[in-house]
Amino acid sequence: MSNCRTSMSVTMASTRPKRPGKLSMLILLGLFLLFFGTIKINCATLPDNSTDVLWLQAFRNEISSAPSGWFNSWNSSSNHCVWPGVRCSQLHPGRVVALELSGLNLVGPISSSIGNLTFLRTLNLSRNSFSGQLPPLIHLQKLQVLDLSMNQLHDSFPYAIVNCSKLRIINLSKNFLVGEIPPQIGLMSNLSVLFLSWNNLTGVIPPTLGNITTIDRLGVAYNNLTGSIPDELGKLQNMLRLGLGANMLSGGFPEGLLNRSNSLQYLALQSNMLNSKLPPNIGNGLPKVGELYLYDNMFEGQIPASLGNISGLQRLELQGNSLTGEITTSLGNLQYLYYLNLEKNNLEANGSEFFNALANCRSLESLFLADNQLQGAIPNTIGNLSITNLVQLSLAGNKFSGTGNIPIQVGSLTGLFVLDLSSNKLTGEIPDTLAKCQSIVTIQMAQNFLVGTIPKILGMLQSLSMLNLSHNYFSGAIPEDLERLQLRQLDLSYNHLQGEIPKNGIFGNSTAVSLQGNWGLCGGDIDLPTCTAASWKRKAGYYLIRVLIPVFGLLSLALVIYLLLLIKRTPKRECLSMHSFGENFLKISYKDLAEATSDFSESNLVGRGSHGTVYRGKLKEAKLEVAVKVFDLDMRGAEKSFLSECEALRSIQHRNLLPIIRACSTVDYTGSVFKALLYEYMPNGNLDTWLHYKGDGKTPKHLGFSQRLSLAVNIADALDYLHHDCGRPTIHCDVKPSNILLNDDMNALLGDFGIASFYVDSSSTSTGSTTITSSVGVKGTIGYIAPEYAGGARKASTSGDVYSFGIVLLEMMTGKRPTDPMFKDETNIVNFVDNNFPREIYHVLDTRLTEECKDFAHAKTVSEG
Ligand SMILES: *[C@@H]1O[C@H](CO)[C@@H](O)[C@H](O)[C@H]1NC(C)=O
Ligand SMILES: *[C@@H]1O[C@H](CO)[C@@H](O)[C@H](O)[C@H]1NC(C)=O
Ligand SMILES: *[C@@H]1O[C@H](CO)[C@@H](O)[C@H](O)[C@H]1NC(C)=O
Ligand SMILES: *[C@@H]1O[C@H](CO)[C@@H](O)[C@H](O)[C@H]1NC(C)=O
Ligand SMILES: *[C@@H]1O[C@H](CO)[C@@H](O)[C@H](O)[C@H]1NC(C)=O
Ligand SMILES: *[C@@H]1O[C@H](CO)[C@@H](O)[C@H](O)[C@H]1NC(C)=O
Ligand SMILES: *[C@@H]1O[C@H](CO)[C@@H](O)[C@H](O)[C@H]1NC(C)=O
Ligand SMILES: *[C@@H]1O[C@H](CO)[C@@H](O)[C@H](O)[C@H]1NC(C)=O
Ligand SMILES: *[C@@H]1O[C@H](CO)[C@@H](O)[C@H](O)[C@H]1NC(C)=O
Ligand SMILES: *[C@@H]1O[C@H](CO)[C@@H](O)[C@H](O)[C@H]1NC(C)=O
Ligand SMILES: *[C@@H]1O[C@H](CO)[C@@H](O)[C@H](O)[C@H]1NC(C)=O
Repeated sequence: MSNCRTSMSVTMASTRPKRPGKLSMLILLGLFLLFFGTIKINCATLPDNSTDVLWLQAFRNEISSAPSGWFNSWNSSSNHCVWPGVRCSQLHPGRVVALELSGLNLVGPISSSIGNLTFLRTLNLSRNSFSGQLPPLIHLQKLQVLDLSMNQLHDSFPYAIVNCSKLRIINLSKNFLVGEIPPQIGLMSNLSVLFLSWNNLTGVIPPTLGNITTIDRLGVAYNNLTGSIPDELGKLQNMLRLGLGANMLSGGFPEGLLNRSNSLQYLALQSNMLNSKLPPNIGNGLPKVGELYLYDNMFEGQIPASLGNISGLQRLELQGNSLTGEITTSLGNLQYLYYLNLEKNNLEANGSEFFNALANCRSLESLFLADNQLQGAIPNTIGNLSITNLVQLSLAGNKFSGTGNIPIQVGSLTGLFVLDLSSNKLTGEIPDTLAKCQSIVTIQMAQNFLVGTIPKILGMLQSLSMLNLSHNYFSGAIPEDLERLQLRQLDLSYNHLQGEIPKNGIFGNSTAVSLQGNWGLCGGDIDLPTCTAASWKRKAGYYLIRVLIPVFGLLSLALVIYLLLLIKRTPKRECLSMHSFGENFLKISYKDLAEATSDFSESNLVGRGSHGTVYRGKLKEAKLEVAVKVFDLDMRGAEKSFLSECEALRSIQHRNLLPIIRACSTVDYTGSVFKALLYEYMPNGNLDTWLHYKGDGKTPKHLGFSQRLSLAVNIADALDYLHHDCGRPTIHCDVKPSNILLNDDMNALLGDFGIASFYVDSSSTSTGSTTITSSVGVKGTIGYIAPEYAGGARKASTSGDVYSFGIVLLEMMTGKRPTDPMFKDETNIVNFVDNNFPREIYHVLDTRLTEECKDFAHAKTVSEG
């Protein structure tokens, strides 16, 4: 044996100068390997230097794939100590001390012959595709650096690593290691770096790690570790970075980590199952932390004010917890904070204090506050955040609302890249000052109550790539200025946009543009009608294809869905600032009204309600056409009805609610009390006449399908507002077609609040349960009144309105009143539709709609065929 080795070393020594033929060298090596392969030798006891070359060759031979030619120079014509990636000892010539082959895309197992390189101090095979097991480490007593990270090694954590007592750096991240981290690891007294992240390790974090006082970086993130975080880790006073994120760790925040002399700069505990409150002294116990990641856990309670004491804090991520209460203004002390994410909690901030405080964070670049309970107006002081070079601002999914709108000061945020205000309750228009945000790449304002036109100035935002204004109330035309932009995505769907769709720029790419749900748009490449009147047929076909099927499906579900919404939905819209008409209350005289209506003449009579009469009239001075509802005070309940309607409409205002222009309470010529309400006159009358107009055979006064649908949407809007969004929930109690008025533009306005408007104590409505007792008692109209009222219930509820609305929807589609003679015995309008839908749809549908539907049926066959 020893002879053999000697002869080998002699051969090696003598061959170098002579450069023998390749063949003889290979034969020699082959024989040699064969020999060693059959005889067992305990290498650990061999203090020889000559065999390292063999272990290297064995290692190389097991590699199945390498960059072509890379290992050519690993040949016997040169000393292995000069082979690329190999370094030898100077003290012990020929002994390999470092093998560093990182990032070469090497494939295959790591030969266990590596375990024979007993002088090895550095083994770095990171960033390859080595698979199989780890090499045996037990004899590598001199090993200091072990980096096998980013491979595909399947093995359990090597217990034998404990024997490599000189190890300073262990990096085994990003492999497929399984099993537990052995407690004995605590014996590795010289360890400074232990990275085991991105494996499949299980079990607990061994508390014995607390014995390795030299450790300064510990990373075991992205494993499957369980249990709580051992307080012993707090003993590691040299620790700089601690990453335990993305495991299944439980328990509270590890208070053992908190220490005034703590050197920790980076602490990541995110994506675990940590719970309970954050310790109040957290900020004092982590004095040096620059980055703190606690997101996606189950922490609760308030954000500790002491966080404001971590003077060097740069990045704070607390999103995805259950934190509550007001956001501490102490965060304003953080001079170096550049990234703050508090999204997805239940945090509050009322008023502008918090934003004022944040304006002191001069380094702030990214601010994420989405999906919390922040409310009120977005404070104007948001503009002060400009001094911080804000580049990302997300306030989406809160309860920001606007009497304050989007503050024009947003234009001061000139460095902004991302602005996300989606899913709030913002009203008003987009401020033109936004044009100053010239770096902006993404604007998200979907799901608000924004109005007005889409500002042309958006066309000046050269960097804009993504614009989402969907689900708002934008009207008017799409500005052609948007054609100029290098947009990649544009979503203007579900607004009230009208007119021709621009053709150039992004508008030429139908996959990048969403415009659906805008009934007034035409043209464009998309399958919308062309912008000429002749396109009516196509238009109808389009609407029908897109809308009829879902609508009928939805109709049958409408009640259910709406009821669900009642329960789920939080209030959406603030009441617009009311202009109380109190001051006008007495200013209009009886004489004025008598004149306007030609002494309340029959010719001006437009209708009779249960408590009075409605006349059409023209106010001379104001040159205003009005409807005057005169209350018949002899009738029981009329006085109450008057007050009730005044009260109802005093504080609420919505574009689909018929507003009172004036209320008039005075005396007539005979000295009797006279009470009347003035409304804007609606020239197109009410829905009832439109639906049931029999016609004189000449002028077809007829509502098309899409018109009916759009009216239904108007009423739904109005009811939603009344029930949820106007401060105190209001119940109309008499939703029926004759109370739905049509204005010049054929928009529906819900009117007549006189019969019954009830108020619900808003504190009791959060659950959607809207029981109230009314002094007036429940009224309504037969056919539309909810069965529970008819049964004698004295409680009005929003669900009652919803029921009536459902009936109105059915009436609009069937053209039949719920009181139609055909509905008798067991048949009513609800089960009539139900029984015939969808197979016998033509049987149910208003006959005046069947023409459109035949087109539709035809269009459908064509599109399917
Ligand atoms: C390590 O060396 C011993 C002899 O010193 C040998 O028996 C063993 O096979 C070697 N291991 C590998 C994997 O080459
Ligand atoms: C062997 O390696 C040397 C460099 O060490 C190289 O110049 C030579 O071309 C290699 N021989 C072969 C056959 O690849
Ligand atoms: C082995 O070590 C001896 C001295 O320790 C040295 O003379 C000899 O050259 C070394 N062999 C090789 C192959 O480096
Ligand atoms: C291993 O080598 C790679 C590539 O040179 C290097 O980036 C990495 O820092 C090395 N690992 C260690 C622990 O030094
Ligand atoms: C190392 O391994 C040997 C067995 O090979 C064992 O006896 C010894 O206790 C281990 N531990 C240390 C720290 O060397
Ligand atoms: C620990 O490492 C240092 C140098 O990093 C070295 O001087 C010391 O001897 C090592 N201790 C042990 C027990 O290996
Ligand atoms: C493994 O960790 C060490 C210690 O921090 C580091 O130097 C090395 O770059 C890491 N390896 C890779 C491939 O990143
Ligand atoms: C971890 O283990 C699970 C289940 O044993 C397996 O599905 C998953 O692929 C593993 N992941 C890795 C990175 O090895
Ligand atoms: C190592 O830590 C464990 C538990 O943390 C402890 O019981 C043990 O005494 C420590 N050992 C040494 C040598 O410090
Ligand atoms: C973690 O372990 C659980 C069982 O202990 C297993 O179901 C799950 O797949 C594992 N997850 C991963 C990412 O390995
Ligand atoms: C259209 O827009 C989509 C989505 O932005 C994009 O992937 C695609 O490349 C665009 N096509 C053209 C022709 O610009």
